[in-house]
Amino acid sequence: MNSLLILTMCYIATQARQNVLFLVADDMRPQLGAYDGPDFPNPVHPVMHTPNIDALANTSLLLKKAFVQQALCNPSRSSLLTSRRPDTTHVYDLKHYFRKVGGNFTTIPQYFKENGYMTVGMGKIFHPGEAASGRDDPISWSVPYFHAKDDSYSKKGYSWLAIPRSDYVKEPLQDMVLADNAVKVLREVAPAAKRGEQPFFVAVGFHKPHLPFIFRGEFLDLYPLEDIQLPDNEYAPVNMPSVAWFPFDNLRNYKDIAKVNASGDINTTFPTNIVKDLRRAYYSAVSYTDSLVGQVIQELNNLGLANTTIVSFWGDHGWELGEHGEWCKETNFENAVHAPMMIQIPGVTDRGIITEQMTEFVDLFPTLVEAAGLSPLPPCPEDSSNTILCTEGTSLMPLVTNPNITLKEVVFSQYPRKLGDQSVMGYTLRTQHYRYTEWAAFTKAPIYKPDWSRLYGMELYNHTGDPEENYNHAYDDSYATLRTMLSSLLRKGWRNS
Ligand SMILES: *[C@@H]1O[C@H](CO)[C@@H](O)[C@H](O)[C@H]1NC(C)=O
Ligand SMILES: *[C@@H]1O[C@H](CO)[C@@H](O)[C@H](O)[C@H]1NC(C)=O
Ligand SMILES: *[C@@H]1O[C@H](CO)[C@@H](O)[C@H](O)[C@H]1NC(C)=O
Ligand SMILES: *[C@@H]1O[C@H](CO)[C@@H](O)[C@H](O)[C@H]1NC(C)=O
Ligand SMILES: *[C@@H]1O[C@H](CO)[C@@H](O)[C@H](O)[C@H]1NC(C)=O
Ligand SMILES: *[C@@H]1O[C@H](CO)[C@@H](O)[C@H](O)[C@H]1NC(C)=O
Ligand SMILES: *[C@@H]1O[C@H](CO)[C@@H](O)[C@H](O)[C@H]1NC(C)=O
Repeated sequence: MNSLLILTMCYIATQARQNVLFLVADDMRPQLGAYDGPDFPNPVHPVMHTPNIDALANTSLLLKKAFVQQALCNPSRSSLLTSRRPDTTHVYDLKHYFRKVGGNFTTIPQYFKENGYMTVGMGKIFHPGEAASGRDDPISWSVPYFHAKDDSYSKKGYSWLAIPRSDYVKEPLQDMVLADNAVKVLREVAPAAKRGEQPFFVAVGFHKPHLPFIFRGEFLDLYPLEDIQLPDNEYAPVNMPSVAWFPFDNLRNYKDIAKVNASGDINTTFPTNIVKDLRRAYYSAVSYTDSLVGQVIQELNNLGLANTTIVSFWGDHGWELGEHGEWCKETNFENAVHAPMMIQIPGVTDRGIITEQMTEFVDLFPTLVEAAGLSPLPPCPEDSSNTILCTEGTSLMPLVTNPNITLKEVVFSQYPRKLGDQSVMGYTLRTQHYRYTEWAAFTKAPIYKPDWSRLYGMELYNHTGDPEENYNHAYDDSYATLRTMLSSLLRKGWRNS
């Protein structure tokens, strides 16, 4: 090959650099048409109406078994955006900022920015407030960040509201404003991207279906009340240690919910009408969010950018809709840690690739980097507090060639608790057949380590016969050998698995 030809090829490769549209939903469990089948969060549900995300899934690498590293917004997002786990970011709550307590780590948008991309962020990407410097981590973005202001419907104090058209045409909902802004931004960045001058990385973080479930009224009609069913397991798992429980205080504080005086105690839940209303409103909020995702993707198509733009979509963690009598997230149950994730790569995933292999949210960063052809991230050393750029995940691109390859035999999540003055960390792992959890005494800053000799509970669920995790076998003699093996895997951690 002559050097002119090589030069020309390099030029084409540079020209062909793909844009990234980075879409995020808040508290969206994988209750989407595309997940129908064994990976649905609960077998008892109406037909879901999510045509836009389903269409995206059809032309994506659909990661049906993706798990978050911690089922709470800020820890999950900080982990995904830096590709490091909570014990490295040191972010376990809604307050702390990884650059202050973990290290000066490079984020996904920051890396694309450093590689010449125009990075534009809007809505909820980082957790807002002090958890991201109060200014949404400015180093990650090329231009000032955009927030749509909180709408007045959210301030009324109700857990859910279906907003009639006559109202939302006068005052649009927060995420409607956000989607309109995304459309506007795509139009602005499109010309330079199409001319091959500067690719873009546009991040759009929807606030829904997070509480309060506020959505355009017409979406409620998709879910008639008579189609809404109760979960078939409105009780805590048999032999569940109490440390595993979360009393869903935030939901109980909404004024329509507070008036029923639910205690949040184990094996109590809401009255049937409230359970059904909340499930119905959540489904409606999911469909509403789906429509906004569709609006943004449609604009990408209209601008002729679909075949030069990688689109990733994920929800920051799962959500419990009354299964186990449990609500919200903040647990280590499957319904809290299992979340949607898909990546559409033009020319690569066009026919749709579904994988049932287990993956983790720390894997998205190295995957996007490989998909976009940027230099791969080095693996993080044991102590990466001074390593600006590295990953604690794995690129998922091999799944594109063969979705049956097992990249991970074991995936990890965690959730902290406070028992009186005692800090506890619940470490959990999932294999294809089991979920195993140990709740251990934990020393926070500056040590950030569990003391495995002081356990407050163990859980072992057999997903083969019990996908809803209704029976904790951790204390059963017949599971002792398996438990010892899983305990050893858990304590060795992700690095040695
Ligand atoms: C996704 O693909 C399936 C199978 O080809 C098809 O039946 C379905 O209509 C598609 N869904 C959407 C929303 O495009
Ligand atoms: C953090 O790292 C970035 C480069 O990734 C650098 O520009 C910045 O100055 C660093 N900040 C601190 C406080 O070290
Ligand atoms: C909750 O209810 C289940 C099913 O009835 C029972 O097995 C379990 O022991 C109860 N848990 C507690 C803590 O009461
Ligand atoms: C809830 O508690 C309040 C105050 O104790 C009481 O007035 C009200 O009747 C209770 N409501 C229900 C549904 O139990
Ligand atoms: C993308 O689509 C446009 C319009 O459909 C077409 O002109 C262009 O050649 C396509 N580019 C690639 C890289 O396939
Ligand atoms: C993956 O496994 C499924 C089920 O065993 C099989 O139908 C499919 O052909 C396999 N795909 C590849 C690419 O090997
Ligand atoms: C898990 O459940 C499956 C199906 O119910 C059963 O075959 C298997 O033996 C169970 N595992 C253990 C360790 O008992």
